[in-house]
Amino acid sequence: MKVSEKLEAIIVEAKSHIELVKNLNELNDAKAKYLGKKGSFSDVMKLMRDLPNEDRPMFGKVTNEAKQVILGYIEEQRNILEQQIVNEKLSKETVDVTLPGREFTVGVKHILTQVIEEMEDLFIGMGYEIMEGPEVEIDEYNFEKLNLPKDHPARDMQDSFYITDDTLLRTHTSSVQVRTMLANKEKTPIKIICPGTVFRRDDDDATHSHQFMQIEGLVVDEKASMADLKGTLLEVARKMFGEDRKIRLRPSYFPFTEPSVEVDVSCHNCNGKGCNVCKGTGWIEILGSGIVNDNVLEACGYDSKKYQGFAFGIGVERMAMLRYGINDIRAFYTNDLRFIKQFKKWKKT
Ligand code: PHE
Repeated sequence: MKVSEKLEAIIVEAKSHIELVKNLNELNDAKAKYLGKKGSFSDVMKLMRDLPNEDRPMFGKVTNEAKQVILGYIEEQRNILEQQIVNEKLSKETVDVTLPGREFTVGVKHILTQVIEEMEDLFIGMGYEIMEGPEVEIDEYNFEKLNLPKDHPARDMQDSFYITDDTLLRTHTSSVQVRTMLANKEKTPIKIICPGTVFRRDDDDATHSHQFMQIEGLVVDEKASMADLKGTLLEVARKMFGEDRKIRLRPSYFPFTEPSVEVDVSCHNCNGKGCNVCKGTGWIEILGSGIVNDNVLEACGYDSKKYQGFAFGIGVERMAMLRYGINDIRAFYTNDLRFIKQFKKWKKT
């Protein structure tokens, strides 16, 4: 058989073989079969040895051309196979954009947290610092330094959970007043609020809970008057219940403030005319406050001749109940999602 015929035969075979190859591995095998060291071409090349010198260049040229043709087939098939791989991948990874999306549920901050954060924003804006204090408190800070010595009758106002004779679950956040003053030793001004949980021995019902939250406020400076207190509390009332609210102060009693006042806000429901929210009075009680009692200043290391202060205690649940018309304090703690989720779309007033 002539060399050219032999090459022709290899080309024909290679073409039909390569066209049928199904993957890249098989393609590599085919390449080896025809062009590799032990492939069909090496056999042909062996023929060159028997040729006269003058015929060799021609032989080389022809075999080379044949090789190129086969390489061409291989490359063509490689392109086809690679394209197939891409197509398969694309069809597997197709996203059906018409499918409905998976819902991503975003949590809701508890309404009490929302109220506290809103208050914090307000007070930070007025230059206050946010403090924290322990929920397990010593009697000295919860009562004694607040002008409530042992056996003082006013202790009955705040029935407590005692852990030992001298430690208890704090009955109010006012203990943080004591802690702050003791830590500052006549440094002024003090301007703090302290949100936190407090505990009292109470039977739970719609308006009583053995655990609830307060936001304590304390300002101590060389001058801190009733007028300053009133202006501050007016801001609180307006932030919580709307810009047109008015407040009024009623005389009250707390051992740690003198004079003491209870603060009412004009009813946001009826605008002061009288309705069931304000029990017909036009006013709603929102917090207790007063001018820091001299005994408290002295007990906490401040010269009462030189310094004055005012303090207040805001009931967080009470604020939220009034604002949203919630009539059972237990709703805050029983974790019924239907209750909690209502405050998702909560809007600032
Ligand atoms: N600690 C008081 C209470 O829990 C509230 C209060 C705080 C009153 C600060 C006056 C000043 O009832």
